[in-house]
Amino acid sequence: NPVATLACLLPKAELHLHIEGTLEPELAFRLAQRHGVTLPWPDVEALRAAYNFSDLQSFLDLYYAGANVLRTEADFYDLTRAYLEHAHADNLRHVEIFFDPQTHTERGVAFEDVLGGIRRALLEAEREWGISFRVIMSFLRHLSEADALATLDEARPYLHRIDGIGLDSSEMGHPPSKFARVFAECRELGLPVVAHAGEEGPPEYIEEALDILRVKRIDHGVRALESDALMTRLANEQIPLTVCPLSNVKLKVYDDMTAHGLRKMLARDIKVTINSDDPAYFGGYVNDNFIACIDALDLTADEVIKLARNSIEASWLDNARRDALL
Ligand code: HPA
Ligand code: ZN
Repeated sequence: NPVATLACLLPKAELHLHIEGTLEPELAFRLAQRHGVTLPWPDVEALRAAYNFSDLQSFLDLYYAGANVLRTEADFYDLTRAYLEHAHADNLRHVEIFFDPQTHTERGVAFEDVLGGIRRALLEAEREWGISFRVIMSFLRHLSEADALATLDEARPYLHRIDGIGLDSSEMGHPPSKFARVFAECRELGLPVVAHAGEEGPPEYIEEALDILRVKRIDHGVRALESDALMTRLANEQIPLTVCPLSNVKLKVYDDMTAHGLRKMLARDIKVTINSDDPAYFGGYVNDNFIACIDALDLTADEVIKLARNSIEASWLDNARRDALL
């Protein structure tokens, strides 16, 4: 398919990627061995076979279990390096990656080691392959706002190495409004903010993210399709959505890829982008996501070019580099 070939060759940015979600089973077992810990699965095949999710929570349970093997600066470096090899192979020229400090500091891993290992790999890939990057610290929404505020305090010595703030984990029952104060504080610090909204949660969560958290982008946002007024607003204000198609199918947001709303959003002139979310768990990296959408939705070359351009335009790159990539 020439459209798939085009998608693979175009320069792109990835804007929705959880570094903990890039932990492939092979690396999980290697790190478990490194630390002399036993994973609750006998081998790589058994772990991969467990990637059969019924919803977001069933995935998160495994995702947090897997993160338990990430303990040292070297672990976070190895994890991030492996992701960046895929990014380079997929012609990604820029990546904006989430990390979840609470998942690690709760287990006694130093904030410095988490961020240091991730950044060491990012700086190396920038030197070697010219992949620019931003790092987004994400709060876990199933925990309290007080916990997020404490995490922000812990992050204060490292804020010069943190480019933005996100909100992830279990969406239902944890609306954006729960984090109004901590996000206000982040904005006052000059940090751009984003939030997962409308993945499993209703369109109202997307509106809260926009109006209360004042996000620059919506992560996922696919349930906006249920509200015509919100669709119009997203288009008028050109609010970027970081859509993750393979994730949506794997977590049963859609029964299959032919039911995905991506093409409807493009038709409504909403600024959608294609991202991999947690590629080790959801069956593919950015190009795999493009190919799955092209196959199921019959995307045109113009649509694919638009999606790739959107990813650069919706990034937080400075104008000079943005223009160079467009
Ligand atoms: N949604 C919410 N939380 C997450 C996700 C996601 O897709 N991936 C990792 N944490
Ligand atoms: Zn996500």
